[in-house]
Amino acid sequence: MRAVEVAPSLYAADFWNLGAQIDALLDAGAGVFHYDVGDGHFVPPVTIGPIVLESIAPPLHERGATIDCHLMVEAPERHFEQIAAAGGDSVTVHYEAVRDLAAASAAARRRGLGFGVAFNPETAPEQVAETAPDADLVLCMSIHPGYSGQQFMPETVDRVRRLRQLLPDDVLIQVDGGVDERNASELVAAGARLLVVGSHIFDAQDAARAYRAIADRAAVPLTA
Ligand code: DX5
Ligand code: ZN
Repeated sequence: MRAVEVAPSLYAADFWNLGAQIDALLDAGAGVFHYDVGDGHFVPPVTIGPIVLESIAPPLHERGATIDCHLMVEAPERHFEQIAAAGGDSVTVHYEAVRDLAAASAAARRRGLGFGVAFNPETAPEQVAETAPDADLVLCMSIHPGYSGQQFMPETVDRVRRLRQLLPDDVLIQVDGGVDERNASELVAAGARLLVVGSHIFDAQDAARAYRAIADRAAVPLTA
């Protein structure tokens, strides 16, 4: 994996042209794809689930890419088995939705999945850092989860900075929501290494070019 990875969020894709858009992003260098599962309870919308994952995982894996599944659902552990079987590579569950994160992490790893912990804008980084020391990544939401196309919450930069000080060095920080060319390098300077980008890639005329522009920007962090 690169020092900073920009992961296109497929939730924002044009599903009529999903295969072509993924191909173009792979050609442009994308190596991690973000896959949003929403259940209509933890977040208002029902989004995409294992059925679509099952179709896209084999061609993505063939080209060396991985699929990082963001589970915006209650009781996410119930879905680990199906997600692993459908070809998901990692699962990120919400701090607000899981009582026993250590048990969830163990359950994910038993199925060969990487494990991450996401938290909402109302949750303090300090709370999450205490409970997520064995995660591969901690996802700092920069919007209220549920929909693509929302505006980036600028206080996220400070939350990422605080989180970076609290977490062990090997736990990567991911940011999701409203990430674009303007805030990418600031987020990286604050300590983010995984940037999820939905509408700013898929709403562009040319998704591959938009991906490259954000990835290039993320590669040059502003000095803090
Ligand atoms: C929404 C999802 C995001 C979303 C990001 O809650 O978790 O991954 O697709 O889309 P943008 O980048 O448009 O905010
Ligand atoms: Zn997401």
